[in-house]
Amino acid sequence: MKLWAGRFQKETDTLVNDFNSSIGFDARLYRQDIAGSIAHAEMLGKTGIIEAHEAETIVTGLKAILADIEAGGVEFSLENEDIHMNIEAELTRRVGEAGKRLHTARSRNDQVAVDTRLYVKQEIPAIIAQVLDLEKVLMKKARANLDTVMPGYTHLQRAQPTTFAHYMMAYANMFKRDITRLEDCLDRLDECPLGAGALATSTYPVDRFQTAAALGFAKPTDNSMDSVSDRDYAIELLSALSILMMHLSRFSEEIILWCSWEFKYVELDDAYSTGSSIMPQKKNPDVAELVRGKTGRVYGNLVTLLTVMKALPLAYNKDIQQDQEAIFDAVDVCLPVFAAMLDTLTVQAKNMRKAAAGGFINATDCADYLVKKGLPFREAYMIVGRLVNLCIKTGDTLDTLTLRDFRAISGLFDADVYQALALKTCV
Ligand code: ARG
Repeated sequence: MKLWAGRFQKETDTLVNDFNSSIGFDARLYRQDIAGSIAHAEMLGKTGIIEAHEAETIVTGLKAILADIEAGGVEFSLENEDIHMNIEAELTRRVGEAGKRLHTARSRNDQVAVDTRLYVKQEIPAIIAQVLDLEKVLMKKARANLDTVMPGYTHLQRAQPTTFAHYMMAYANMFKRDITRLEDCLDRLDECPLGAGALATSTYPVDRFQTAAALGFAKPTDNSMDSVSDRDYAIELLSALSILMMHLSRFSEEIILWCSWEFKYVELDDAYSTGSSIMPQKKNPDVAELVRGKTGRVYGNLVTLLTVMKALPLAYNKDIQQDQEAIFDAVDVCLPVFAAMLDTLTVQAKNMRKAAAGGFINATDCADYLVKKGLPFREAYMIVGRLVNLCIKTGDTLDTLTLRDFRAISGLFDADVYQALALKTCV
């Protein structure tokens, strides 16, 4: 029998029951839901809204339910729709009368709002810790490759020589910003919506500061209508994760290119690669590809939630329930497997260096050489352009031209030009 059977003349249609039910995914919130209910029950007892001994019975019952869920001993039912009603029903089944008092001065609207916030509040530090682990791998790779010369690119054309360490630290900087974005989201979500009720609070003398403190929030939220309809923090999380995934995806793309035969700058560890079912020679970068692919899904989750929220009138609407699958899917950002893949990757320094020696990567340094001899940069740039053009015709590189070739184009060139063009000097 439904909670609301008193008002209804008919049973819920099975189609509606299945469609409306969220227990299939929101069961993931059981810990947060029980924590929220314990804080609420304790507050009800302390303020005298319910008897202290009833509050105690509720809290003991909820703790036992938590232990049993963790041990796999509680079955949730579709009939009870969502995690909130499943746990309340289980509590009442176990402790009777007292269980029926838990929902005093509360609605599922503030209940799910607090569950979702608690979930995001717990996930963010976990994600930050994973980003920090990745940062450690990047530092390690950078430290080991301070002298590993490789081409730097613009337009994916060899541009100027750099080092693998420089490259790694570029990504380290991106992830550092990601951490600050996540921390920023955490700061703003740190308010507790419990007590907002369905939308307009209640007539009971609830102590919202007590529940906020018990759940580890800095303070209660200010406006009850906003409290139950706000999912900004989830959108902020998905935005921060979308940017983080964009960084991971760019990195993945480079790794995929680098381990192709066309580049062969890196070799992935066998344990972090996959083979082909038909082509015996293949060694594929599936991990990087899956991360790149997952990025699309995380963007999708952000757009899902923005779109779900975009035309909702105040306050709670059932549409909001669709936030949960988007959040659950997005928080798994593949960081541990990515970090492990990077950690075990080996750098093919010789190939990088060889690539850095081609493509006229020292042309800018050649122009700078002339500038140091007093020529305006624009003129130096034009002269080196002519030299490159000459090299392309003769199959030379700048450092294989003779001094006579150099001097035929500008008298400012001297024997020290070779030193200026050396990769080491350029880097
Ligand atoms: N399962 C619901 C959700 O996640 C709980 C809130 C239901 N509220 C309601 N007014 N029907 O949004």
